[in-house]
Amino acid sequence: MDQKQVEVRKRIDERMAKIKHKVVILSNKGGVGKTTVSVNLAMGIALKGYSVGLMDADFHGPNVPKMLGLKEQGMAVNSGEMVPVSMPLDSGLLKVVSVAFLTEKNSAIVWRGMFKMSIINQFLADVRWGGLIIYLWICLLELRMNP
Ligand SMILES: Nc1ncnc2c1ncn2[C@@H]1O[C@H](COP(=O)(O)OP(=O)(O)OP(=O)(O)O)[C@@H](O)[C@H]1O
Ligand SMILES: [Mg+2]
Repeated sequence: MDQKQVEVRKRIDERMAKIKHKVVILSNKGGVGKTTVSVNLAMGIALKGYSVGLMDADFHGPNVPKMLGLKEQGMAVNSGEMVPVSMPLDSGLLKVVSVAFLTEKNSAIVWRGMFKMSIINQFLADVRWGGLIIYLWICLLELRMNP
């Protein structure tokens, strides 16, 4: 690892250490219900009064903002940190970051592996989640089998 990678790793470790519970929802195929499960789980837990972070790292269909009615809103950047979009829910709070917030509406993007890794690292290292009790991460994994 070069110096920059070491620094990113350190920021990820520090950031992740502040989050008590982390749940990863992933699959190696599309359309199996990742988004449905993630959004319902996150909202259900937030409605019980907790702070919940939802990180939509699905590059091939980041539709969490759309499901939550946040499609037009973007994330702010403050002092080099990304600030998630916040949704107050009763006494709880849902905070959302999504690849969809980084892309232009109606534009096509070809995501390359290295670029995906760099965005996932930024989401892990540089999002100011605040005092979260539970944190969910959606990720769509593509498994390519050799013939
Ligand atoms: N438990 C369920 N029973 C029946 N249908 C479901 C269930 N969960 C999700 N669905 C439906 O399946 C479809 C795909 O769900 P969803 O978008 O959550 O999957 P996904 O894995 O996030 O897909 P993608 O790979 O496109 O991101 C939707 O039409 C959704 O309403
Ligand atoms: Mg999905």
